[in-house]
Amino acid sequence: MIIKIAQITDTHLLSNPNTAMRGVATWHSLKAILGRVKLKNPDLLLLTGDLADEGQPQAYDRLFELIEPLQIPTYWIPGNHDRLETMNERLHQWPFVARQNFTLGDWSFILLDSTIDNPKFGEGYFSEQTLANLEKTLNASHHPVAIALHHHPIVTGIDWLDTIDLVNATDFLTILERFDRVKLVLFGHVHLEVERTYNGIQFYGTPSTCTQVLPENAIERDRYPGFRWLELNPDGTHHSQVIRIPPHSIEPC
Ligand SMILES: [Fe+2]
Repeated sequence: MIIKIAQITDTHLLSNPNTAMRGVATWHSLKAILGRVKLKNPDLLLLTGDLADEGQPQAYDRLFELIEPLQIPTYWIPGNHDRLETMNERLHQWPFVARQNFTLGDWSFILLDSTIDNPKFGEGYFSEQTLANLEKTLNASHHPVAIALHHHPIVTGIDWLDTIDLVNATDFLTILERFDRVKLVLFGHVHLEVERTYNGIQFYGTPSTCTQVLPENAIERDRYPGFRWLELNPDGTHHSQVIRIPPHSIEPC
């Protein structure tokens, strides 16, 4: 069985669907992205944080209303802009699934919360408990494993962005190095397409569904909202691509 996943990240929804954030109406942008996602018929949606811009309850309600009609199992983790308590209240009913570890087909999935209380600049950190649980789960797994977190655990090469990464990424990577079965690490936070390989593990950062961070030598396409498409094969290999939509396909407010 090939598992088809749409990673959707950094939706930054606001209470009012018609309010813009840095010139982009985030609700309308997500709506257009979901229209594209639906055509590809994924087995699951993976939302990797910053789902609301300021953790507003109404923003999560708007998210639920947009995703519920798709009837696709939807897993999520928080980002530094989210409020976990509010997410747990608003995003627990089908098709939202509030589970952090699960198996689908031949793959195991581990979703990790990298957020901390009161970060100085939006950085993330894994507690000792989170790292111990990760190690325990990896020891018990016999499948190819995909891990998702919000913050980037590898450098992007963009100075300011690399100051707000996963602060103790070395501790995380040291654990992963011991497990050949870890194949993929997916993250959000960067608002940018990132692809790196480290110790045989593929790391993917994914554009936001709204505003983007532009790399040096950015081209026009780098400004477009997007999501990541993944197809995971039973033998632990995979295929992935970023799909973007041009701004003119987003309905105006
Ligand atoms: Fe974000």
